Amino acid sequence: MQRIHAAITAVGGYVPEYRLTNAELEKMMDTTDEWITTRTGIKERRILKGEGKGSSDMAVEAVKDLLAKRNISPDEIELLICATTTPDMQFPATANIICDKAGLTNAWGYDVNAACSGFIFALTTGTQFIETGKHKKVIVVGVDKMSSIMNYEDRATSIIFGDGSGAVLLEPDTHGFGIIDSVLKTDGKGRVYLHQKAGGSVKPATIETVMNKEHYVYQEGQSVFKFAVKNMADVAAEIMERNNLTGDDVSWLVPHQANKRIITATADRMGLSEEKVMINIERFGNTTNGTLPLCLWEWESLLKKGDNIILAAFGGGFTWGSIYIRWAYDGNKA
Ligand code: UT7
Repeated sequence: MQRIHAAITAVGGYVPEYRLTNAELEKMMDTTDEWITTRTGIKERRILKGEGKGSSDMAVEAVKDLLAKRNISPDEIELLICATTTPDMQFPATANIICDKAGLTNAWGYDVNAACSGFIFALTTGTQFIETGKHKKVIVVGVDKMSSIMNYEDRATSIIFGDGSGAVLLEPDTHGFGIIDSVLKTDGKGRVYLHQKAGGSVKPATIETVMNKEHYVYQEGQSVFKFAVKNMADVAAEIMERNNLTGDDVSWLVPHQANKRIITATADRMGLSEEKVMINIERFGNTTNGTLPLCLWEWESLLKKGDNIILAAFGGGFTWGSIYIRWAYDGNKA
């Protein structure tokens, strides 16, 4: 029998309705549409509004979308892995809350935190449960409500982030389709450049931490940019080389959407023209764990069985990595 691969067999997605445009940011802080567009490629991002709404609410919509497309009952799902940097609460895991709200009564679940690389870390993890034969239906969802940890007085950081969620279903495939390879990396020394200073066990929340705005994203943008632009391109090139792929063999690059300039550098390094690159940063900004599955969700109808797809991401930690997928179905139907 052929080796079991984990194939993505459905994709779901959700973005909140509210659009935070560059024009609105111009009114909130000292910035311009021109600066944001030329430096990042972003025009607007979606923001989840509403009292008591968290990451799980967006993830539930993405999961329901996926289940409805394939007409799968929620109780068929055996495991849900949630990649998030903005969990509903410190504990329990957001995966538990999603399973409850989406009616996944037979699933167990847990969260993965690898900042912007979380989705590819979680996808690689979910793949193991399929490849070993342990499970037949696993959902991997990436979600972030970045607006909940954004300081809208910090013009260098807040302009890039938005809210959103995407989800994929993994099922076994014995015909050579699915997740073929992954390269994942971490370097904890990078943590100083991108993190949330307070609210963890080292520095629990106090009045001072709140007053000092230490519960927001802290990013040294230029330093992160330098590491991101090199490492995301390096890792995408590495996975191509390992799998004997040239730019001509690759159908699509699915890059993390942090900055259009980082995406372009990665595509150039891979020898890909822009038509082969999924880019929605202009409309959604950086949704952290949501970026990659939201791209797959938007481009799903154009994907063909056998397409060679490369996922690549870079994020806080530092974390980065790449996944090679041989796509398993045509268009919107598995
Ligand atoms: O997804 C997780 C990983 N994160 C990333 O990959 C993000 C990587 N970093 C970046 O994408 C970029 O560094 C940013 C978009 C965050 C910032 O762009 P930059 O080109 O690195 O700008 P900068 O922070 O070096 O600032 C350049 C200038 C500064 O002015 P001076 O000191 O040269 O006078 C900033 O004060 O631009 C100024 N600036 C702004 N001006 C207008 C910074 N932010 C803004 C703004 N509007 N929003």
